Amino acid sequence: MAKLNDNYLKLKAGYLFPEIARRVKAFSDSDPDAAAEIIRCGIGDVTEPLPAAAREAMKAAIDELGKRETFRGYGPEQGYDFLRAAIAEGDYRGRGVEVADDEIFVSDGSKCDTGNILDIFGPGNTIAITDPVYPVYVDTNVMAGNTGEADEAGAYAGIHYMPCTADNGFVPAIPEGKVDLIYLCYPNNPTGATATKGQLAAWVEYARGNGAIILYDAAYQAFVQDGSLPRSIYEVDGARECAIEFRSFSKNGGFTGVRCAFTVVPKELLAETAAGEKKPLHPLWARRQSTKFNSVSYPVQRAAEALYSADGKAQIAALIDHYMGNAKLLREACAGLGLDVYGGENAPYVWVACPPGIDSWGMFDKMLGEAKVVVTPGAGFGAAGEGFFRISAFNSRANVGTVCDRLRTIV
Ligand code: MLT
Repeated sequence: MAKLNDNYLKLKAGYLFPEIARRVKAFSDSDPDAAAEIIRCGIGDVTEPLPAAAREAMKAAIDELGKRETFRGYGPEQGYDFLRAAIAEGDYRGRGVEVADDEIFVSDGSKCDTGNILDIFGPGNTIAITDPVYPVYVDTNVMAGNTGEADEAGAYAGIHYMPCTADNGFVPAIPEGKVDLIYLCYPNNPTGATATKGQLAAWVEYARGNGAIILYDAAYQAFVQDGSLPRSIYEVDGARECAIEFRSFSKNGGFTGVRCAFTVVPKELLAETAAGEKKPLHPLWARRQSTKFNSVSYPVQRAAEALYSADGKAQIAALIDHYMGNAKLLREACAGLGLDVYGGENAPYVWVACPPGIDSWGMFDKMLGEAKVVVTPGAGFGAAGEGFFRISAFNSRANVGTVCDRLRTIV
């Protein structure tokens, strides 16, 4: 009989967000009147319309595909040159950060890229992951066979967990021992915390000193309000030798349904073969993408390119202002109730300590049952997330106002 991938059987429960959706559906089915009032602040899914610049570019691209002279079939697997150039210039070189056009790999999402990147790493790497964390990093390592079984608390053998707590500002301590692959995400999902350039510099120093690679998820960089905070790990000297960066148009351009993202693999970045020889990772990722991926559709890449136009930038800025205005209201409402509140100042997530006596799934149930608001229980992001819940600021202003009012009635 054909053999399955036993590693999948090690995975605990369902993936967090489908599990939440399942619970919300069960609640809705049991109380259809309440269902109509539910406000979703769980998964960080955008709510505001796609920027006009992106829509217009997409429509024009569709018209090009409708004419024989301008029709296009398969595009380059790494993304069209026009988009790679717009990204490298707009997000990096224009901000004084060295990244070449051909170090940009266009994709359909950071979720996919942060999972798929494991294809180019061999077995036996020690994986360091923050706790709490975006669950994709953990689950994809389990699927790839990089872990043992999970214990009762859901922690997998073989993963080096790095607790992120209010005491360390949700930025983990540098490991004392040696790890090989380090997942960092700032501005952070789920805690909304940020890391300073000095903190990232310490990680870069560790990685270079230990031959480790940092997998840096910067999907929320556009939400940074404090100009002194880094938006890219490559703002730190030496990061090109030890870091891969993931970015997405999902949250800044409202592309969660459109799908476009990119990964930066610098040419200086090396890893070791089984025989101990140092080789660049850039050609491996290029080869992986050429073999397993055909990039993103032409209209979507044109839409992403349009986000770098003057109009596109202004429209993104308006979206960010809107969501960060929501985050401020949510922060204020929670703080006003005497809850400990984190994040929400440079990230679209507000991370809130549960009221005394309620755990994070208990708070999820209370918010759903009594306030008809979906939040994400902190424990769903890892053991260190217990005692917290996450409120997503992705919503309409009117809904956020209602969420704040309802919070006041139940806490
Ligand atoms: C989240 O809610 O954590 C994110 O929206 C999930 C994602 O981006 O895949």
